[in-house]
Amino acid sequence: MGLLKVSYIVTLTTVLWVVLTTLFPNIFPGYYDHGDMQNKDGYLYSAYYNSLNTPSILKNNLTDSHILLFTAHPDDESMFFTPTITELTKENYNNTFHLICLSNGGYDGLGSIRERELRKAARVLSIDSVKVLDYVDDINVYWNISDIVKSITDEINNVKREYEFEENKSLILLTFDQDGVSSHPNHKSVYQAVKTYNKLTNTRAYSLKSWNILVKYSGMLFTNIEVAMKWLAKCDDIKSFLSRINISLLDHIIADISKESIAIYSDLNSLFLNFSTMTWVHFSQIVWFRWIWIFSSKYMNSNELVPIS
Ligand SMILES: *[C@@H]1O[C@H](CO)[C@@H](O)[C@H](O)[C@H]1NC(C)=O
Ligand SMILES: *[C@@H]1O[C@H](CO)[C@@H](O)[C@H](O)[C@H]1NC(C)=O
Ligand SMILES: *[C@@H]1O[C@H](CO)[C@@H](O)[C@H](O)[C@H]1NC(C)=O
Ligand SMILES: *[C@@H]1O[C@H](CO)[C@@H](O)[C@H](O)[C@H]1NC(C)=O
Ligand SMILES: *[C@@H]1O[C@H](CO)[C@@H](O)[C@H](O)[C@H]1NC(C)=O
Ligand SMILES: *[C@@H]1O[C@H](CO)[C@@H](O)[C@H](O)[C@H]1NC(C)=O
Repeated sequence: MGLLKVSYIVTLTTVLWVVLTTLFPNIFPGYYDHGDMQNKDGYLYSAYYNSLNTPSILKNNLTDSHILLFTAHPDDESMFFTPTITELTKENYNNTFHLICLSNGGYDGLGSIRERELRKAARVLSIDSVKVLDYVDDINVYWNISDIVKSITDEINNVKREYEFEENKSLILLTFDQDGVSSHPNHKSVYQAVKTYNKLTNTRAYSLKSWNILVKYSGMLFTNIEVAMKWLAKCDDIKSFLSRINISLLDHIIADISKESIAIYSDLNSLFLNFSTMTWVHFSQIVWFRWIWIFSSKYMNSNELVPIS
């Protein structure tokens, strides 16, 4: 009986999620001002002009850049960063996306298989270049920060050399935040190194916010609330009605989800892509508890990026 109730709730939140993230933006395409993007058409090629994310990507200048995502293990990109990757690699944003994975995830002796899977996942996700470094995958070890800073410098210089540019302004670094999503010491070391590099060179950098356990395993529940709030905030009639009866709650919630950080949501199209990178590409990593992650993790349907400074 309990299981039946859970399945009702899951079905309901999923349907609501599809309506909010995919149907609504298509039914009311004019609702968002996407500036120049509006003229560039085609879902496959575009910063999908009906996407919920486009305005904040444009506002934060996450375009026309070389984006370097630093992760610790093959499958980090698919478990945590897919919404970000699928959004920022859309063709109209004109980004070039580089994935640098610091280890081959060889803790269980599967290093070479996982490295192959990573390269396959990168192709599925339209990532332009992949590099796997040789830090040792170990859940008990903090990696040497100055070594990683040196690796970051090398990788950036490689990109600058290969694409023939000098300036730092067209570079964007992405990585975990200080809690590393799962508190894995390898993840945290990568964050510390990117932060150090950011201090040294002023290069733009963003970290993936680690949510608390309730939010992390909320599936689509909190995502629905956030997206619904965003829709409501756009609707002047509802806003003036709420202010007439003096409800300021809405403002608090909107302020909270829009301050500083950049929220990125998947829609139905990118969620399928997400699911397939985990279940099909990273097959060697599929153990029973991964299914719990896939169906209950909010990281599968949204990301929140926080500027590092
Ligand atoms: C984006 O770039 C424009 C023009 O260079 C600048 O005025 C604006 O402050 C930038 N926005 C952010 C969030 O960096
Ligand atoms: C795309 O980005 C590159 C820099 O990475 C820039 O030189 C080029 O002008 C951009 N193209 C468009 C169409 O904005
Ligand atoms: C990190 O490595 C550098 C050399 O690469 C070394 O000088 C330094 O002592 C190491 N730091 C730690 C904390 O082990
Ligand atoms: C750009 O980055 C390089 C390191 O890659 C650094 O040496 C240089 O100082 C940076 N330039 C500026 C203007 O911050
Ligand atoms: C409306 O709410 C504000 C606080 O948010 C309060 O100061 C004000 O007295 C309220 N007005 C009415 C008419 O309830
Ligand atoms: C699925 O997408 C969400 C957000 O779009 C992302 O956090 C997650 O890592 C993705 N997972 C897969 C398997 O793509």
